[in-house]
Amino acid sequence: MCGIVGYIGYRKAQEVLLQGLHRLEYRGYDSAGIAVVKEDGTLNIYKAKGKVSNLETIMADKEVEGSIGIGHTRWATHGEPNDKNAHPHSSQSQSLAMVHNGTIENYHILKKALIKHGYTFSTETDTEVLVQLIEYIKATNKCNLFDAVREALLQVVGAYAIAVIEKGNPDTIIVARKSSPLVIGIGENETFIASDASPIVGFTDKVVYLKENEMAVISRNRPLQISSIADNRPSKLDIQRLRVSVEQLEKGGYDTFMLKEIFEQPETLKDCIRGRIVEEGKRVILSGVIENRERFIHANRIVIVACGTSWHAALIGKRVIQEMCQLPVEVEYASEFRYGNPFITDQDIVIAISQSGETADTLAAIQLAKNKGAFVYGICNVVGASIPRNTDSGTYIHVGPEIGVASTKAFTGQVTVLTLLALCMGQIRQTVQPEKVEEIAQALLKMPDTIRETLKLNDDIRRLAKTFTYAHNFLYLGRGYNYPTALEGALKLKEISYIHAEGYPAAEMKHGPIALIDAEMPSVIIAPSDSLYDKIVGNVQQIKSRGGSVVAIVNRGNTAMAQLADYCLKIPEVPECLTPIVIAIPLQLLAYYIAIYKGRDVDRPRNLAKSVTVE
Ligand code: AGP
Ligand code: GLU
Repeated sequence: MCGIVGYIGYRKAQEVLLQGLHRLEYRGYDSAGIAVVKEDGTLNIYKAKGKVSNLETIMADKEVEGSIGIGHTRWATHGEPNDKNAHPHSSQSQSLAMVHNGTIENYHILKKALIKHGYTFSTETDTEVLVQLIEYIKATNKCNLFDAVREALLQVVGAYAIAVIEKGNPDTIIVARKSSPLVIGIGENETFIASDASPIVGFTDKVVYLKENEMAVISRNRPLQISSIADNRPSKLDIQRLRVSVEQLEKGGYDTFMLKEIFEQPETLKDCIRGRIVEEGKRVILSGVIENRERFIHANRIVIVACGTSWHAALIGKRVIQEMCQLPVEVEYASEFRYGNPFITDQDIVIAISQSGETADTLAAIQLAKNKGAFVYGICNVVGASIPRNTDSGTYIHVGPEIGVASTKAFTGQVTVLTLLALCMGQIRQTVQPEKVEEIAQALLKMPDTIRETLKLNDDIRRLAKTFTYAHNFLYLGRGYNYPTALEGALKLKEISYIHAEGYPAAEMKHGPIALIDAEMPSVIIAPSDSLYDKIVGNVQQIKSRGGSVVAIVNRGNTAMAQLADYCLKIPEVPECLTPIVIAIPLQLLAYYIAIYKGRDVDRPRNLAKSVTVE
């Protein structure tokens, strides 16, 4: 994970770097650090354990001059999160400073060789090995920094986005990437680098996404030069326009990004649907599907790969695609798929779902599926990320930047796009009735209002949450379309409140989890008035007769459940396949307020990072 930033230009580097690190903090917050080269060539490094604010505290009384520098916010993979292991790391002679996002898999071998050459190490990180190797190569080959970095990278096995600066050289940053992302922002007489575009927003809208296995020289006086690491062949500059505003990146009056993102969902869903439902709600068009019509008509099977929340969306996608397209759909964790020797043919469509578009396991699964000849379709949020650039076609969910580590608006966007995909594909395969398409499409068009209505539960849920701060365990039960919603509700609670929670298919409760039920174990029961409602009522009775407390999520017209459950949260009615989108809202709010009452840092829960770019 980790976030890296860099700056060269006319501004005070320290300020640009610290602001950039704040925006990248969602990627990790084990430690933060910056390195700046002063005009006279002096190289200074500042670092601190914990969040960027800790770094700011230790730097508060320091006037750091210099208009070139690099910075890092860490999610530790090698070595404990402490001051020593914080980036930037320097080489033995202190002449180089480097930040790194990724993992150097052969660092042991490289380290042993460097120790033989007299190098000593002061950290436990893999990163320090790389910066020492660069220094060693530079000294032995008597070459410049660029050649030394390139030569070192040829010896490295692993994943990296790196930025390197050197003492005595206030004019150059060398960057490179393999498997971890890196964006270069081109301004007037200044250049920015970052793990994603957020630190660049507000400075320039011209960006270049460094491609796989490319490196670049960022120089104060010369235009940007990009080349391939393998053979040093120059690459073409592909300058793109950024379409994200500073306002979109800030909290907009909410206490946390997570709450802002929960409340944004009426707008984000509108953006997600825009232009995709046409002819007054009679037809659904996803350009990625229409442009590859034949592929979708003749597909034998769909395999969806994803991780975490995106995997939960995939499980819902499986049901809706099967229902609308009469086609077998399998869902795999990307991490299992990549090592599972999957049976994939060129008649298969592999759909990869990812909010960030940078998840390492999902990227590896895509590569494997491509090698086996499958057509790979991406469903992603971050525009220009690695997944959309490495898939054959795809659809953006367009829900805007998601900063809170717990995914909320991306989940509802993903389920929406999967439903649109199922409808669009069902139309071209002629497996879905036009009336069905119209019914669901109309409900999707109304979804922003439906979500606005559902968000009115906020105050009730806040009150309800207070009564649950005692709980150490929670059970979430749902069936059919809402079994994955139960999994998602449990994941939300776990990741931000640190309360253990399990999602279960409601009918499976009697096969084991029922043994856990007692007065200390609350259950959240998802019970919309759908084809399985009556069965779920049975589950509520079983829990109540064993002394457990029940929060039931039911439709507005439901008056019966109030006799059984301890608390009822009532949601507007929508077609069955869309219930997960609506039900996600109370589940997100419940997890949110329980976590707030427990005093958790919901935007930056412990041990987690927003974008999991390591295995
Ligand atoms: C969700 O709240 C998580 N923090 C996490 O499970 C996430 O969904 C997962 O890491 C996948 O990320 P992606 O969608 O960016 O690929
Ligand atoms: N491997 C480096 C470290 O542990 C970088 C980690 C990362 O990118 O997640 O410091």
